[in-house]
Amino acid sequence: MSYKKVYNTWKNDPEAFWLNLCEDIDWDRKPSKALFTRKEPFYSWFDDGMVNTCWNAVDRHVNAGRGDQPALIYDSPVTQSKSITTYSELQSKVSKVAGVLVNLGVKKGDRVIIYMPMIPEAVIAMLACSRIGAIHSVVFGGFAARELAVRIDDAKPKCILTASCGIEPNGLVEYKPLLDEAIELANCKPQSCVLYQREQCHADLIEGRDYDWNEMTSSATPSDCVSLPGDHPLYILYTSGTTGQPKGVVRPSAGHLAVLHWTMKNFYGVEPGEVFWAASDVGWVVGHSYICYAPLIHGNTTVIYEGKPVGTPDAGAFWRVISEYKVSTLFTAPTAFRAIKRLDPNAELLAGYDMSCFKTLFLAGERADPDTLQWAEKHLRVPVIDHWWQTETGWVITGNPIGIETLPVKHGSSYVPMPGYDIQILDNEGHELCRGELGSITVKLPLPPGNFPTLWNADQRYITSYLEEFPGYYNTGDAGYMDENGYVHIMARTDDVINVAGHRLSTGGLEEVLASHPDVAECAVIGVADELKGQLPMGLVCLNSGSEGRTEKVVPECIKLIREKVGPFAAFKLAVVVDRLPKTRSGKILRGIMVKIANGESYNMPATIDDPVILEEITEKLATIGYPKTII
Ligand code: COA
Ligand code: AMP
Repeated sequence: MSYKKVYNTWKNDPEAFWLNLCEDIDWDRKPSKALFTRKEPFYSWFDDGMVNTCWNAVDRHVNAGRGDQPALIYDSPVTQSKSITTYSELQSKVSKVAGVLVNLGVKKGDRVIIYMPMIPEAVIAMLACSRIGAIHSVVFGGFAARELAVRIDDAKPKCILTASCGIEPNGLVEYKPLLDEAIELANCKPQSCVLYQREQCHADLIEGRDYDWNEMTSSATPSDCVSLPGDHPLYILYTSGTTGQPKGVVRPSAGHLAVLHWTMKNFYGVEPGEVFWAASDVGWVVGHSYICYAPLIHGNTTVIYEGKPVGTPDAGAFWRVISEYKVSTLFTAPTAFRAIKRLDPNAELLAGYDMSCFKTLFLAGERADPDTLQWAEKHLRVPVIDHWWQTETGWVITGNPIGIETLPVKHGSSYVPMPGYDIQILDNEGHELCRGELGSITVKLPLPPGNFPTLWNADQRYITSYLEEFPGYYNTGDAGYMDENGYVHIMARTDDVINVAGHRLSTGGLEEVLASHPDVAECAVIGVADELKGQLPMGLVCLNSGSEGRTEKVVPECIKLIREKVGPFAAFKLAVVVDRLPKTRSGKILRGIMVKIANGESYNMPATIDDPVILEEITEKLATIGYPKTII
């Protein structure tokens, strides 16, 4: 079948299309229909079905004879360790952790925060929650205590699952002090914490609150899967919005299950049993969908890689993992390939590895620059496919669906909409634009199954953030155009979100932290172009009168502040003190112009600017920190 035929099958009869997907899922009770509109505009899918995600990801494969197949491959160059967990072993481990949670009083609908590094226990923890209907919320290990505290207060977890440490190439990251500080900072206190002690670092436990993972699981009674309504939230995943308050994206059980299963064969072109590797982190949406859930739901083997694309030990790390485990499909962020390309421009390290198993490379998370795409194509000699999606959607919006049909390659585009996504490019007044014209990328409602039906405890914010600007459409926050062939090109964000090494960051959130510095009167954070990470955050701060003497000290203090309050992964290392910020006459900071100055791009003087001389001052100040950069 052609892509067009599949897309039109959906468009002509969405109900039938989505109900058909349900055939691949084990239901306790099949849904009577696909779309539920009773809470419009909070659309939902398969609500009256009864189902369990963990059953579909683990138990049913054991029953179907896949018990001895590896489910998880753990490869950790940072600890020099490797292990394989079969589907049978996974079932046993998951049901015991589920039993631990039940013992600790966790029930269906209770939230559980998972703050763990890239170890099998992180995936086991996620599945254990879904087994008993607890709603997990995984917090990325690179976040600082304050960010964890914000998430604790919003999700109000009954229990937190954690580990003693994460391991970064430059050393151990002890989780326990961060966890203790976060709980101290949070207003809502979890009843219990279960900690997995890693041999690299032992954490002290607080009696009455903290429990040892191994002790608890060894004595636990395994817990079975519970039957859950189709719209039961499987997880909450926080993502950056325009303020420091993250948005809790809610993932519904049944739609997520059916649609992720569909993507494995139809989008990624993968057969059950193959080894699928998403080189991301369980703390991000890619990790949720394609390290944990989709490969397991589809009966694949998934790789949990605790390492980096470079430096652990070299730029051949990805090739080693692919050849060692016969990975057929790799999914990662373009920044990882930029890092590899920079250190090994001729891909000489590939020579030592047998890559015959490798079929396709998928890239997402940020714009894939044509140079990097072509480099990967040239050296890997497999299709390299850019695809576009968001935490909110949980699965691909546009891409090249090689499992259905491989469409002609077009570098710089993210290909075509998947079934369920009626993409419209709109102008500021909400009028549909012609092909080739740049505008806001929107999706006509309803969003397809698996997408977020709302934000956790924030229905109104869901409406104001995503639905209000273009009534009847979901505003993706991305700008771009659709070309004459129907291919979508993602060009930029329309809000204050920036993308640093595939990580989504709110400039507004960073500004809130900088503004808390006692010497800072006002500030702006912008995203400047970076060859490796795509974008880097840069802070421009104005000091309070009387603080002039502290100019030298403020910059390092601001850098330290972001590291402590947001986390090291924000890579905030660029800051400069300026006398004034450029503003419109109505007082709006002109961030866009500063981005252009920092990137060395030409700009038009905005008619509304308050005082054009400020731009000259900004240009001079940026030159003192080496911006714009001279690309050699
Ligand atoms: N826990 C604690 N700290 C973490 C962390 C984690 N899980 N992940 C990153 N950090 C820290 C790093 O140790 C580093 O700290 P440092 O400033 O003390 O050196 C900082 O955050 C930045 O790390 P990182 O983002 O890994 O950047 P890098 O410059 O060390 O490496 C890349 C560059 C391109 C190799 C790296 O960014 C990368 O692998 N990116 C892929 C991103 C990705 O998979 N995104 C998911 C979207 S699909
Ligand atoms: P996240 O929610 O962290 O996955 O980030 C989603 C955002 O990353 C999108 O809204 C885009 O801005 C950007 N993004 C993701 N995939 C792509 C892609 N293939 N091309 C361009 N931008 C992308």
